[in-house]
Amino acid sequence: MNKYRVIQWATGVVGSAALRGILRHPKLELVGVKVYSDQKEGLDAGDIIGAEKTGILATRDVDAIMAIDADCVLYCPMPWDLAEMCRLLESGKHVITPCPYWFPFIQNREAAAAIDAACKKGNVNLHATGCNPGGIAERFPLTFTGWCNRIDRITMTECGDCRTYSSEGVMRELMNLGKTPEAASNNPLKEMLAKSWYEPIDMIAAGLGSEIVSYEAKHDFILANQPIETAIGIIEEGTIALNHYRHIGTTREGTEIIQEQIWYLDDIEQTRLQSKMDIPRESGWRIKLEGDVNLNIDIDFPAELTQDERVAQGLSTTAFHCVNAVPLVCEADDPGIKTHLDLAMVTGCMGTHVTER
Ligand SMILES: NC(=O)c1ccc[n+]([C@@H]2O[C@H](COP(=O)([O-])OP(=O)(O)OC[C@H]3O[C@@H](n4cnc5c(N)ncnc54)[C@H](OP(=O)(O)O)[C@@H]3O)[C@@H](O)[C@H]2O)c1
Repeated sequence: MNKYRVIQWATGVVGSAALRGILRHPKLELVGVKVYSDQKEGLDAGDIIGAEKTGILATRDVDAIMAIDADCVLYCPMPWDLAEMCRLLESGKHVITPCPYWFPFIQNREAAAAIDAACKKGNVNLHATGCNPGGIAERFPLTFTGWCNRIDRITMTECGDCRTYSSEGVMRELMNLGKTPEAASNNPLKEMLAKSWYEPIDMIAAGLGSEIVSYEAKHDFILANQPIETAIGIIEEGTIALNHYRHIGTTREGTEIIQEQIWYLDDIEQTRLQSKMDIPRESGWRIKLEGDVNLNIDIDFPAELTQDERVAQGLSTTAFHCVNAVPLVCEADDPGIKTHLDLAMVTGCMGTHVTER
Protein backbone atom coordinates (compact mmCIF):
# COMPACT_ATOMS: atom_id res chain seq x y z
CA MET A 1 0.00 0.00 0.00
CA ASN A 2 1.31 3.44 -0.93
CA LYS A 3 1.34 5.67 2.11
CA TYR A 4 0.57 9.39 2.16
CA ARG A 5 3.80 11.31 2.71
CA VAL A 6 3.20 13.83 5.50
CA ILE A 7 5.13 16.79 6.95
CA GLN A 8 4.48 17.92 10.51
CA TRP A 9 4.74 21.73 10.71
CA ALA A 10 5.38 22.93 14.32
CA THR A 11 5.64 20.67 17.32
CA GLY A 12 3.92 22.52 20.15
CA VAL A 13 1.19 20.87 22.21
CA VAL A 14 -1.05 20.07 19.22
CA GLY A 15 1.81 19.52 16.75
CA SER A 16 3.50 16.98 19.04
CA ALA A 17 0.27 15.01 19.38
CA ALA A 18 -0.15 15.16 15.60
CA LEU A 19 3.40 13.87 15.12
CA ARG A 20 2.58 10.91 17.33
CA GLY A 21 -0.63 10.38 15.37
CA ILE A 22 1.21 10.38 12.02
CA LEU A 23 3.73 7.81 13.26
CA ARG A 24 0.95 5.51 14.41
CA HIS A 25 -1.30 5.86 11.37
CA PRO A 26 -1.04 2.83 9.04
CA LYS A 27 -1.65 4.93 5.91
CA LEU A 28 0.80 7.75 6.69
CA GLU A 29 4.55 8.15 6.41
CA LEU A 30 6.40 11.01 8.09
CA VAL A 31 8.74 12.75 5.61
CA GLY A 32 9.55 16.07 7.28
CA VAL A 33 9.25 18.13 10.45
CA LYS A 34 9.33 21.93 10.59
CA VAL A 35 10.22 23.48 13.95
CA TYR A 36 10.81 27.01 15.19
CA SER A 37 12.92 26.57 18.32
CA ASP A 38 16.73 26.39 18.24
CA GLN A 39 16.68 23.51 20.70
CA LYS A 40 14.63 21.29 18.36
CA GLU A 41 16.67 22.03 15.20
CA GLY A 42 18.27 18.78 13.97
CA LEU A 43 16.51 16.55 16.49
CA ASP A 44 15.03 13.26 15.32
CA ALA A 45 11.22 13.53 15.23
CA GLY A 46 10.99 10.58 17.63
CA ASP A 47 13.15 12.36 20.19
CA ILE A 48 10.85 15.41 20.12
CA ILE A 49 7.93 13.33 21.40
CA GLY A 50 9.81 10.67 23.39
CA ALA A 51 9.26 7.92 20.82
CA GLU A 52 11.52 5.61 18.79
CA LYS A 53 13.88 7.28 16.33
CA THR A 54 12.34 7.87 12.92
CA GLY A 55 15.32 9.00 10.82
CA ILE A 56 13.46 12.24 10.07
CA LEU A 57 15.27 15.27 11.42
CA ALA A 58 13.52 18.49 12.38
CA THR A 59 14.52 21.66 10.58
CA ARG A 60 13.83 25.37 10.89
CA ASP A 61 14.58 25.83 7.18
CA VAL A 62 11.32 26.71 5.43
CA ASP A 63 12.81 26.33 1.93
CA ALA A 64 14.03 22.83 2.77
CA ILE A 65 10.53 21.88 3.92
CA MET A 66 8.93 23.40 0.80
CA ALA A 67 11.28 21.31 -1.37
CA ILE A 68 10.28 17.96 0.19
CA ASP A 69 8.16 15.73 -2.02
CA ALA A 70 5.16 15.36 0.28
CA ASP A 71 1.42 14.84 -0.16
CA CYS A 72 0.26 16.78 2.88
CA VAL A 73 1.37 19.16 5.62
CA LEU A 74 -0.21 19.22 9.08
CA TYR A 75 0.20 22.91 9.75
CA CYS A 76 0.04 23.62 13.53
CA PRO A 77 1.97 26.80 14.42
CA MET A 78 1.00 29.66 16.70
CA PRO A 79 0.72 32.19 15.21
CA TRP A 80 -0.26 30.95 11.76
CA ASP A 81 0.52 32.74 8.52
CA LEU A 82 -1.81 32.87 5.53
CA ALA A 83 1.04 33.54 3.08
CA GLU A 84 2.89 30.50 4.38
CA MET A 85 -0.21 28.32 4.01
CA CYS A 86 -0.60 29.54 0.42
CA ARG A 87 3.06 28.87 -0.35
CA LEU A 88 2.68 25.28 0.87
CA LEU A 89 -0.44 24.83 -1.25
CA GLU A 90 1.22 26.31 -4.33
CA SER A 91 4.12 23.88 -3.87
CA GLY A 92 1.63 21.07 -4.44
CA LYS A 93 1.05 19.94 -0.85
CA HIS A 94 -2.38 19.57 0.69
CA VAL A 95 -2.67 21.46 3.99
CA ILE A 96 -4.63 20.37 7.05
CA THR A 97 -4.67 22.72 10.00
CA PRO A 98 -6.31 23.32 13.40
CA CYS A 99 -5.90 27.07 12.70
CA PRO A 100 -8.32 29.11 10.63
CA TYR A 101 -9.85 28.83 8.00
CA TRP A 102 -12.72 26.46 8.83
CA PHE A 103 -15.35 28.22 6.69
CA PRO A 104 -13.84 31.53 5.57
CA PHE A 105 -16.21 32.37 2.72
CA ILE A 106 -18.13 35.06 4.64
CA GLN A 107 -15.84 36.32 7.45
CA ASN A 108 -12.54 36.15 5.58
CA ARG A 109 -13.40 36.50 1.90
CA GLU A 110 -9.95 37.70 0.87
CA ALA A 111 -8.22 34.85 2.65
CA ALA A 112 -10.68 32.40 1.10
CA ALA A 113 -9.90 33.75 -2.38
CA ALA A 114 -6.13 33.59 -1.79
CA ILE A 115 -6.35 30.03 -0.49
CA ASP A 116 -8.58 28.97 -3.33
CA ALA A 117 -6.15 30.40 -5.91
CA ALA A 118 -3.19 28.69 -4.22
CA CYS A 119 -5.10 25.39 -4.13
CA LYS A 120 -5.87 25.64 -7.83
CA LYS A 121 -2.23 26.46 -8.63
CA GLY A 122 -0.94 23.50 -6.62
CA ASN A 123 -3.87 21.21 -7.54
CA VAL A 124 -4.44 20.51 -3.84
CA ASN A 125 -6.87 21.11 -0.95
CA LEU A 126 -6.89 22.93 2.37
CA HIS A 127 -8.93 21.61 5.28
CA ALA A 128 -9.20 23.31 8.69
CA THR A 129 -10.43 21.10 11.49
CA GLY A 130 -9.74 20.44 15.18
CA CYS A 131 -11.68 19.95 18.36
CA ASN A 132 -13.34 23.33 18.76
CA PRO A 133 -13.59 24.82 16.14
CA GLY A 134 -13.41 21.88 13.78
CA GLY A 135 -15.61 19.42 15.68
CA ILE A 136 -17.76 20.61 18.59
CA ALA A 137 -18.42 24.00 16.99
CA GLU A 138 -19.94 22.75 13.75
CA ARG A 139 -19.27 19.19 12.59
CA PHE A 140 -20.97 17.43 15.52
CA PRO A 141 -23.93 19.81 16.00
CA LEU A 142 -24.66 19.63 12.27
CA THR A 143 -24.73 15.84 12.53
CA PHE A 144 -27.35 16.01 15.27
CA THR A 145 -29.49 18.49 13.37
CA GLY A 146 -30.34 15.49 11.20
CA TRP A 147 -32.54 14.33 14.09
CA CYS A 148 -34.46 17.60 14.22
CA ASN A 149 -37.06 19.42 12.18
CA ARG A 150 -37.69 22.95 13.46
CA ILE A 151 -34.56 24.29 15.20
CA ASP A 152 -34.82 27.44 17.37
CA ARG A 153 -31.40 27.52 18.98
CA ILE A 154 -28.13 25.58 18.82
CA THR A 155 -25.66 26.19 21.64
CA MET A 156 -22.15 24.78 21.91
CA THR A 157 -20.53 25.20 25.32
CA GLU A 158 -16.92 24.36 26.15
CA CYS A 159 -15.63 24.60 29.69
CA GLY A 160 -12.57 23.57 31.53
CA ASP A 161 -9.77 24.31 33.92
CA CYS A 162 -6.92 25.21 31.56
CA ARG A 163 -4.12 25.61 34.08
CA THR A 164 -2.08 22.84 32.45
CA TYR A 165 -2.39 24.07 28.83
CA SER A 166 1.18 25.24 28.15
CA SER A 167 0.65 27.30 24.98
CA GLU A 168 1.55 30.91 25.81
CA GLY A 169 0.29 31.92 22.38
CA VAL A 170 -3.17 30.45 22.79
CA MET A 171 -3.65 31.18 26.49
CA ARG A 172 -2.23 34.68 26.79
CA GLU A 173 -2.10 36.14 23.31
CA LEU A 174 -5.33 34.76 21.91
CA MET A 175 -7.52 34.05 24.96
CA ASN A 176 -6.34 36.99 27.13
CA LEU A 177 -5.73 34.86 30.23
CA GLY A 178 -3.35 36.73 32.55
CA LYS A 179 -4.08 40.04 30.80
CA THR A 180 -5.65 43.09 32.39
CA PRO A 181 -9.20 43.86 31.19
CA GLU A 182 -7.82 46.92 29.39
CA ALA A 183 -5.14 44.89 27.55
CA ALA A 184 -7.80 42.31 26.64
CA SER A 185 -10.10 44.92 25.21
CA ASN A 186 -7.22 46.35 23.13
CA ASN A 187 -6.01 42.93 21.98
CA PRO A 188 -5.22 43.18 18.24
CA LEU A 189 -6.37 39.54 17.87
CA LYS A 190 -9.89 40.34 19.16
CA GLU A 191 -11.48 40.64 15.73
CA MET A 192 -9.68 37.55 14.50
CA LEU A 193 -10.93 35.58 17.52
CA ALA A 194 -14.50 36.66 16.82
CA LYS A 195 -14.19 35.63 13.19
CA SER A 196 -12.84 32.25 14.28
CA TRP A 197 -16.18 31.67 16.05
CA TYR A 198 -18.33 33.25 13.36
CA GLU A 199 -16.80 30.91 10.74
CA PRO A 200 -18.29 27.76 12.34
CA ILE A 201 -21.55 29.64 12.93
CA ASP A 202 -21.63 30.41 9.20
CA MET A 203 -20.87 26.76 8.44
CA ILE A 204 -23.81 25.55 10.53
CA ALA A 205 -26.12 28.04 8.83
CA ALA A 206 -24.86 26.98 5.39
CA GLY A 207 -25.23 23.31 6.35
CA LEU A 208 -28.86 24.03 7.23
CA GLY A 209 -29.40 25.82 3.93
CA SER A 210 -29.57 29.24 5.53
CA GLU A 211 -27.38 32.25 6.27
CA ILE A 212 -26.55 34.49 9.21
CA VAL A 213 -28.11 37.95 9.20
CA SER A 214 -26.67 39.28 12.49
CA TYR A 215 -23.64 38.57 14.65
CA GLU A 216 -22.92 39.46 18.26
CA ALA A 217 -19.86 38.97 20.51
CA LYS A 218 -19.89 39.10 24.33
CA HIS A 219 -16.88 38.79 26.62
CA ASP A 220 -17.26 38.54 30.40
CA PHE A 221 -14.39 37.67 32.68
CA ILE A 222 -13.41 37.23 36.30
CA LEU A 223 -10.08 38.40 37.71
CA ALA A 224 -7.73 36.46 39.96
CA ASN A 225 -7.85 37.47 43.66
CA GLN A 226 -4.32 36.09 44.22
CA PRO A 227 -1.43 34.83 42.05
CA ILE A 228 -2.29 31.50 40.39
CA GLU A 229 0.34 29.05 39.19
CA THR A 230 -0.22 27.66 35.70
CA ALA A 231 1.73 25.98 32.89
CA ILE A 232 2.23 29.41 31.29
CA GLY A 233 3.57 30.91 34.52
CA ILE A 234 1.96 32.94 37.29
CA ILE A 235 -1.38 34.60 36.55
CA GLU A 236 -1.18 37.77 38.59
CA GLU A 237 -3.85 39.08 40.94
CA GLY A 238 -6.13 41.52 39.08
CA THR A 239 -5.68 39.84 35.70
CA ILE A 240 -8.14 37.65 33.80
CA ALA A 241 -8.38 34.13 35.23
CA LEU A 242 -11.80 33.16 33.85
CA ASN A 243 -13.11 33.98 30.39
CA HIS A 244 -16.70 33.67 29.33
CA TYR A 245 -16.98 34.22 25.60
CA ARG A 246 -20.23 34.08 23.68
CA HIS A 247 -20.41 34.52 19.92
CA ILE A 248 -23.92 34.48 18.52
CA GLY A 249 -25.24 34.37 14.98
CA THR A 250 -28.90 34.59 14.04
CA THR A 251 -30.15 33.05 10.81
CA ARG A 252 -32.70 34.74 8.57
CA GLU A 253 -35.35 32.39 10.04
CA GLY A 254 -34.44 33.54 13.59
CA THR A 255 -32.51 30.45 14.69
CA GLU A 256 -29.75 31.38 17.14
CA ILE A 257 -26.38 29.66 16.84
CA ILE A 258 -24.23 30.23 19.91
CA GLN A 259 -20.56 29.40 20.49
CA GLU A 260 -19.69 29.68 24.20
CA GLN A 261 -16.37 29.09 25.97
CA ILE A 262 -15.72 29.15 29.69
CA TRP A 263 -11.97 28.80 30.20
CA TYR A 264 -10.78 29.18 33.77
CA LEU A 265 -7.55 28.94 35.74
CA ASP A 266 -8.66 27.53 39.07
CA ASP A 267 -10.48 24.48 40.31
CA ILE A 268 -14.25 24.31 39.96
CA GLU A 269 -14.69 25.98 43.40
CA GLN A 270 -13.05 29.15 42.03
CA THR A 271 -11.72 30.24 45.43
CA ARG A 272 -8.88 32.17 43.80
CA LEU A 273 -11.18 34.31 41.65
CA GLN A 274 -12.76 37.65 42.63
CA SER A 275 -16.24 36.25 42.09
CA LYS A 276 -17.73 32.91 41.04
CA MET A 277 -19.46 31.79 37.91
CA ASP A 278 -22.03 29.06 37.68
CA ILE A 279 -20.00 26.65 35.54
CA PRO A 280 -22.23 23.88 34.14
CA ARG A 281 -19.58 21.18 34.38
CA GLU A 282 -15.96 20.71 35.38
CA SER A 283 -14.73 20.03 31.87
CA GLY A 284 -15.89 19.02 28.42
CA TRP A 285 -18.55 20.17 26.03
CA ARG A 286 -22.31 20.44 25.69
CA ILE A 287 -24.13 20.67 22.37
CA LYS A 288 -27.69 21.80 23.01
CA LEU A 289 -30.38 21.75 20.34
CA GLU A 290 -33.71 23.44 21.03
CA GLY A 291 -36.73 23.15 18.75
CA ASP A 292 -39.34 20.50 18.21
CA VAL A 293 -36.72 18.00 19.34
CA ASN A 294 -34.69 19.05 22.40
CA LEU A 295 -31.30 17.47 22.88
CA ASN A 296 -28.40 17.91 25.30
CA ILE A 297 -25.35 16.10 24.00
CA ASP A 298 -22.69 16.03 26.74
CA ILE A 299 -19.14 15.05 25.93
CA ASP A 300 -16.71 14.62 28.79
CA PHE A 301 -13.68 12.72 29.98
CA PRO A 302 -13.95 9.83 32.42
CA ALA A 303 -13.96 11.04 36.03
CA GLU A 304 -10.75 9.15 36.81
CA LEU A 305 -8.69 11.26 34.41
CA THR A 306 -6.44 13.83 36.06
CA GLN A 307 -6.65 17.49 35.10
CA ASP A 308 -3.40 17.13 33.10
CA GLU A 309 -4.83 14.17 31.22
CA ARG A 310 -8.06 16.02 30.41
CA VAL A 311 -6.20 18.95 28.89
CA ALA A 312 -3.74 16.69 27.04
CA GLN A 313 -6.49 14.46 25.64
CA GLY A 314 -8.62 17.45 24.70
CA LEU A 315 -5.72 18.80 22.65
CA SER A 316 -4.98 15.36 21.21
CA THR A 317 -8.49 15.29 19.75
CA THR A 318 -7.54 18.41 17.78
CA ALA A 319 -4.36 16.77 16.50
CA PHE A 320 -5.93 13.40 15.69
CA HIS A 321 -8.81 15.04 13.80
CA CYS A 322 -6.12 16.57 11.54
CA VAL A 323 -4.19 13.30 11.18
CA ASN A 324 -7.26 11.21 10.41
CA ALA A 325 -8.39 13.64 7.70
CA VAL A 326 -5.24 13.14 5.59
CA PRO A 327 -6.51 10.37 3.26
CA LEU A 328 -9.86 12.11 2.62
CA VAL A 329 -8.27 15.49 1.98
CA CYS A 330 -5.60 14.04 -0.33
CA GLU A 331 -8.26 12.18 -2.30
CA ALA A 332 -10.88 14.96 -2.54
CA ASP A 333 -11.63 16.11 -6.09
CA ASP A 334 -11.69 19.65 -7.41
CA PRO A 335 -8.86 21.60 -5.70
CA GLY A 336 -9.91 24.18 -3.12
CA ILE A 337 -11.03 24.66 0.47
CA LYS A 338 -12.66 21.53 1.84
CA THR A 339 -14.85 22.07 4.88
CA HIS A 340 -16.67 19.42 6.87
CA LEU A 341 -19.58 20.08 4.52
CA ASP A 342 -17.50 18.80 1.60
CA LEU A 343 -15.73 15.78 3.03
CA ALA A 344 -17.04 12.32 3.83
CA MET A 345 -17.03 11.42 7.53
CA VAL A 346 -13.55 11.60 9.07
CA THR A 347 -13.03 8.46 11.12
CA GLY A 348 -10.24 7.11 13.28
CA CYS A 349 -7.94 4.36 12.14
CA MET A 350 -6.51 1.20 13.60
CA GLY A 351 -3.19 2.76 14.54
CA THR A 352 -0.26 0.90 16.03
CA HIS A 353 1.17 1.68 19.42
CA VAL A 354 4.74 0.73 18.65
CA THR A 355 6.11 4.24 18.82
CA GLU A 356 5.81 4.39 22.62
CA ARG A 357 9.15 4.18 24.37
N1 LIG B 1 -9.16 24.05 16.34
C1 LIG B 1 -8.87 23.65 17.56
O1 LIG B 1 -9.63 22.93 18.20
C2 LIG B 1 -7.56 24.05 18.19
C3 LIG B 1 -7.26 23.60 19.49
C4 LIG B 1 -6.03 23.93 20.03
C5 LIG B 1 -5.12 24.70 19.30
N2 LIG B 1 -5.47 25.13 18.06
C6 LIG B 1 -4.51 25.91 17.25
O2 LIG B 1 -3.43 25.04 16.93
C7 LIG B 1 -2.23 25.78 16.87
C8 LIG B 1 -1.18 25.09 17.76
O3 LIG B 1 -1.64 25.12 19.11
P1 LIG B 1 -0.68 24.58 20.26
O4 LIG B 1 -1.50 24.37 21.46
O5 LIG B 1 0.13 23.44 19.74
O6 LIG B 1 0.26 25.85 20.47
P2 LIG B 1 1.75 25.86 21.05
O7 LIG B 1 1.93 24.75 22.03
O8 LIG B 1 1.99 27.25 21.50
O9 LIG B 1 2.64 25.50 19.79
C9 LIG B 1 2.86 26.39 18.75
C10 LIG B 1 4.17 26.05 18.05
O10 LIG B 1 4.36 27.00 17.03
C11 LIG B 1 5.74 27.15 16.82
N3 LIG B 1 6.13 28.56 16.92
C12 LIG B 1 6.90 29.16 17.85
N4 LIG B 1 7.10 30.45 17.56
C13 LIG B 1 6.43 30.67 16.42
C14 LIG B 1 6.26 31.80 15.62
N5 LIG B 1 6.80 32.96 15.93
N6 LIG B 1 5.50 31.67 14.51
C15 LIG B 1 4.93 30.51 14.19
N7 LIG B 1 5.08 29.38 14.94
C16 LIG B 1 5.81 29.47 16.04
C17 LIG B 1 6.48 26.35 17.84
O11 LIG B 1 6.89 25.13 17.21
P3 LIG B 1 8.17 24.25 17.69
O12 LIG B 1 7.90 23.87 19.10
O13 LIG B 1 8.12 23.10 16.74
O14 LIG B 1 9.41 25.09 17.52
C18 LIG B 1 5.42 26.15 18.90
O15 LIG B 1 5.65 25.02 19.68
C19 LIG B 1 -2.56 27.20 17.35
O16 LIG B 1 -2.60 28.05 16.23
C20 LIG B 1 -3.92 27.07 18.00
O17 LIG B 1 -4.69 28.24 17.85
C21 LIG B 1 -6.66 24.82 17.50
